[in-house]
Amino acid sequence: MKSSGPLSTSWTAYLCLLSVLCSLFTPVVLVKENDFKKCHQSGFCRRNRAYADHALAQSSWQAPYKIFSAEGAAAVSLKDGQFEATILKTVDEQGSTVNLPLTVSFLKSGTARVTVDEEKRKSQSIELRHDSKARKERYNEAEKWAIVGGLTPDTDAKITHEDKAGVTVQYGPEGAFEAVIKFEPFAIDFKRDGTTQIQFNDRGLMNMEHWRAKVDKPEPEKKEGEEGQEGEEKKAEEEPKKEEVPAHLDESTWWDETFGGNIDTKPRGPESVALDITFPGYEHVYGIPEHAGPLSLKETRGGEGNYEEPYRLYNADVFEYVLDSPMTLYGAIPFMQAQRKDSTVGVFWLNGAETWIDVTKAKGSKNPLNRNSKASTNTHWISESGIMDVFVFLGPTPKDISKNYAELTGTTALPAEFSLGYHQCRWNYVSDDDVKEVDRKMDKFNIPYDVIWLDIEYTHEKKYFTWDPDMFKDPISMGQQLDDHGRKLVTIIDPHIKNVDNYPVISDMKSKGLAVKNKDANDFDGWCWPGSSMWIDAFNPAAIKWWTSLFKYDYFKGTMENTYIWNDMNEPSVFNGPEVTMPKDNLHHGNWEHRDVHNINGMTFHNATWEALVSRKKGEMRRPFVLTRSFFAGSQRLGAMWTGDNQASWDHLGAAVPMILAQGIAGFPFSGADVGGFFGNPEIELQTRWYQAGAFYPFFRGHAHIDARRREPYMAAEPHRSIITAALRLRYSLMPSWYTAFFHANQDGSPIIRPMYWTHPSEESGFAVDDQFFVGSTGLLVKPIVEKDKFDTEVYIPDDENYYDYFTYNKVSTHKGKSVSVSAPIETIPILMRGGHIFPRRDIPSRSTQLMKFDDYTLVVVIGKDGSAKGELYVDDGDSFEFEKGQFLHRAFEFKQLLLTSEAASKPSAEGQAEGEWMKQFRDVSFDKVVLVGAPSSWEGKKEVPVTSGGETHKVRLDFYKAEGGRAAFAVLGRLGVRMGADWEVDFA
Ligand code: NOJ
Repeated sequence: MKSSGPLSTSWTAYLCLLSVLCSLFTPVVLVKENDFKKCHQSGFCRRNRAYADHALAQSSWQAPYKIFSAEGAAAVSLKDGQFEATILKTVDEQGSTVNLPLTVSFLKSGTARVTVDEEKRKSQSIELRHDSKARKERYNEAEKWAIVGGLTPDTDAKITHEDKAGVTVQYGPEGAFEAVIKFEPFAIDFKRDGTTQIQFNDRGLMNMEHWRAKVDKPEPEKKEGEEGQEGEEKKAEEEPKKEEVPAHLDESTWWDETFGGNIDTKPRGPESVALDITFPGYEHVYGIPEHAGPLSLKETRGGEGNYEEPYRLYNADVFEYVLDSPMTLYGAIPFMQAQRKDSTVGVFWLNGAETWIDVTKAKGSKNPLNRNSKASTNTHWISESGIMDVFVFLGPTPKDISKNYAELTGTTALPAEFSLGYHQCRWNYVSDDDVKEVDRKMDKFNIPYDVIWLDIEYTHEKKYFTWDPDMFKDPISMGQQLDDHGRKLVTIIDPHIKNVDNYPVISDMKSKGLAVKNKDANDFDGWCWPGSSMWIDAFNPAAIKWWTSLFKYDYFKGTMENTYIWNDMNEPSVFNGPEVTMPKDNLHHGNWEHRDVHNINGMTFHNATWEALVSRKKGEMRRPFVLTRSFFAGSQRLGAMWTGDNQASWDHLGAAVPMILAQGIAGFPFSGADVGGFFGNPEIELQTRWYQAGAFYPFFRGHAHIDARRREPYMAAEPHRSIITAALRLRYSLMPSWYTAFFHANQDGSPIIRPMYWTHPSEESGFAVDDQFFVGSTGLLVKPIVEKDKFDTEVYIPDDENYYDYFTYNKVSTHKGKSVSVSAPIETIPILMRGGHIFPRRDIPSRSTQLMKFDDYTLVVVIGKDGSAKGELYVDDGDSFEFEKGQFLHRAFEFKQLLLTSEAASKPSAEGQAEGEWMKQFRDVSFDKVVLVGAPSSWEGKKEVPVTSGGETHKVRLDFYKAEGGRAAFAVLGRLGVRMGADWEVDFA
């Protein structure tokens, strides 16, 4: 066919115009991936990956690390649980070595800790380049921020075997653990009950880039006639091509490095630290958040379905992030768990610098004792700087690992109860009147919520601790209205301080010397929301003290006791910095380079704000609530996190659950994702499904970008408004169970929502399941719907127990290890109740947690296959620290042999002390009803049962409903008339 000239020209013009228009109107919704480094663009990652390739390609690779004294015999010692030796690294062909002091600490908890330093840097015998003021040592203060306990040595640890090849140290509970420390090459095998579980340097990839002076190589002399471009070209033509330096020996990024136009001056030269850690027989590894990908980590060295890049930990403001990616996000917890049938182990790589982790799997176990296992997982950890510091956990259960990790880094702070309610946020509520109106509307539509949030626009010109004088004329009356309705306000405070005149916060910070410094030790100036800004250096104790003073009610005027804080942008986000953050050669308190502490930075700011909130007013002892975007190991002690700038898309809804599960198993379970999606406008079905999922996030907040349309729950048209409201009510009715789950997290580091492998570590078929979870120990199995037009779903069943539909009490016909189809019309969230559990609820609809404080409870008993069930309730005033003085109730419920009992699960240490205000008011709170699902048919005809408490017995009405259709038999007991805090029993015999 002949093409017509003019037509094709006009088509071209039309298409051009269309594409210009599209580029104008299509929101830029993809992360600028090129703004962030890939491994080959990060010198030390490239070198270490190449080193691994080089080593693994050799048939007889000998890692150049050995434990030997100068005389040739190993000089090692074990004293009070601490093994000491020096590792020698051979650094050249002549056999010269450098000394790397090694300590292996065996801790009472059964955890082992391996640290390796570098003698030359430790003794500060190195030279810095560029007149740098930076510290000379390898950073060794990560533990100051991350570790709060669990370091008591195991003085019973003993050497059980010693020869020329190495030593074996026996340690841990009942001496069941062993560390086999090999001398040449240096390596450690960690064993439990005689079986190797974790191996260090088994593949020989250990690498500590030792200090060396920069040798300036002379420029090759130029001969006449070679000058100028012409000469260069001629030379290139004539000379045979020089052989390329192998990447692991490439020195081009040793002394400086450029990315995106930013130069990193690297005054200490190359100093990376790397180690291979192998989990023989373990097919699954989990953890190392924050990444948007599956819970069971993928392989990272290419191949079908795998990633090409290692998992990266370098806290960054990634803006609109991509899913199913090992790319770094806002926070970093370098803690990994490995899982095989009936065994869980873990490692914690305590390092605050940029870190990359390669994961590969090998088919078949090398270990003859792990016959059941199908594969082994190899990991390769690479950090830019710092000492090597690794904790080893040998389990054997997921619960043990969570507990041992929590002993070191602390547990989730017991939260203020309101913070488990629903949070209503957007960027931005525009005025105090706007806030009041939203608050009234929520009431008008009977929608429960606890907190309304103010994003950056409430400030006067982005100056934190001020209010926009036109739009927020009367913040106190706003706070007052919220308080009258039992509600709270959260205001945002970021770490960048606007660098302008007449702003006391900046002049104070500068004059006191509390800002982060640039490489020349002057205050670092960068770009963020306010324009030119400086950053508080929250590593500095003096800065924390000063920060605390800014939150006093008479300084941050307009705030009240019901004001709490949101810390955003604390990676830190620096719009004009390399990878949207600070230059690595910036300096922090103690002259540590930003390079060393980058991943810890966000936590220090979160910590400063937490400190500020606990000390706002003398005598006011309320639990703080601070939300953070950036985090590190230990951040769980300080509040909640959320997964940052997601999108209003089904994919992002689906990605949130695995991300939140990963947070939970990495010890920071108080987490959530922006409900509705931050960017964009969710269609109503998506928004509705997101509320249904969000009702099961430990942190439950709706949030939206400044350009997104208003979407408060009452804005939805019917029937969606009612459906969303029902999801919110469900959250509130289960509040006692949520609070109890948080209590458990606070006690032993258990996740709040729990993946299948964590609850059922014997069921291999559930190890990769990451789209459903149990809520605490309630036995509630939830699978949110995350797909459009999906009105049924498959729920994986991990055991042989009875399962019932939460809403209908229908008995679900299940098979262990198989999925069962559950119907999920738009008004339904798939929730199953597992037999054998008892969980508390509060069924009287309420507007906020504060208004529910003294409501009666409902107890749901889901009778298990063996006719029994168990559960717990923890309750306190939800606000103060009085629980530390014994002002709480912790009850254990049990249904066994037709007897339902309640007794104290743990007794206050200060038992016998007078009841405080809350305890007194709580005295009359009771159980309004008890529902028993799966009740025996023999109860038919029973009209009442005896309840005994304090030696007195009275009768309570019982209504029995026999099984009908698919519905299981159930019984409802009327008001129990017993005190919550008293022991009681109900006899159903
Ligand atoms: C980035 C945060 O991720 C987002 O939640 C917030 O609304 C904006 N900063 C503005 O403060």
